Amino acid sequence: MTPDIIIAPSILAADFANLAAEARAVEGAADWLHVDVMDNHFVPNLTIGPPVVESLRRATGIPFDCHLMIEDPKRWAPAYAQLGAYNVTFHAEACDDPVALAKDLRAAGTLAGLAVDRDTPIEPYLELLPHFDTILVMTIKAGFGGQAFMPELLDKVRAARRHAKAGHLDIRIEVDGGIAADTIEAAALAGADAFVAGTAVYGADDPAEACRKLRALAQAAVARQTTSDSGGTTV
Ligand code: DX5
Ligand code: ZN
Repeated sequence: MTPDIIIAPSILAADFANLAAEARAVEGAADWLHVDVMDNHFVPNLTIGPPVVESLRRATGIPFDCHLMIEDPKRWAPAYAQLGAYNVTFHAEACDDPVALAKDLRAAGTLAGLAVDRDTPIEPYLELLPHFDTILVMTIKAGFGGQAFMPELLDKVRAARRHAKAGHLDIRIEVDGGIAADTIEAAALAGADAFVAGTAVYGADDPAEACRKLRALAQAAVARQTTSDSGGTTV
């Protein structure tokens, strides 16, 4: 069964010397494991690449959500599909032909995701959404964990949700950056249904419990919205 809400802890906030244990710490509580790949060119930060993904894949059964913050994703993204990533997301700003790359990724056996960074409008990409399984809306400027959530970027989530609804698209709308107990409800109400959380999960004493709390908050927000939309009450 497809879960209504995806919680995707970002290992960017985990202990890089203990990635296998950090992945296992959220098994059963997380839906996807978010893997931030940064190349020190598309973003100033530098993280991990295929060898780490390959090793970590053997350590956990959680589906990998690879977020490629890299230049030239056409060249590198299919490798993550071949390593068994469940979803591979690349940035619109780094790719001339996103639809062609989405097709390559799907052909390689993974879901295809398109990311839009803080300063990129979403409108030019809405027409491309039928070719994608996920659209990732950054709620910070891509590059570093631990930044403050930018609520104004939720307008892009609303636009994507409206477009997906109107076109009956089967697509996940994912938010990434500053997602925590005090921001996840706004993101869910805007129409997001996949939530990346780094600091809020791996900065917590109990990462699995943090995932469960985030999921409960998102579910409750959506349930309240559905109730008020239908004019009913919960009493
Ligand atoms: C930043 C990454 C995020 C990061 C989020 O560019 O894409 O996935 O891990 O971290 P938090 O949840 O701490 O904002
Ligand atoms: Zn990310």
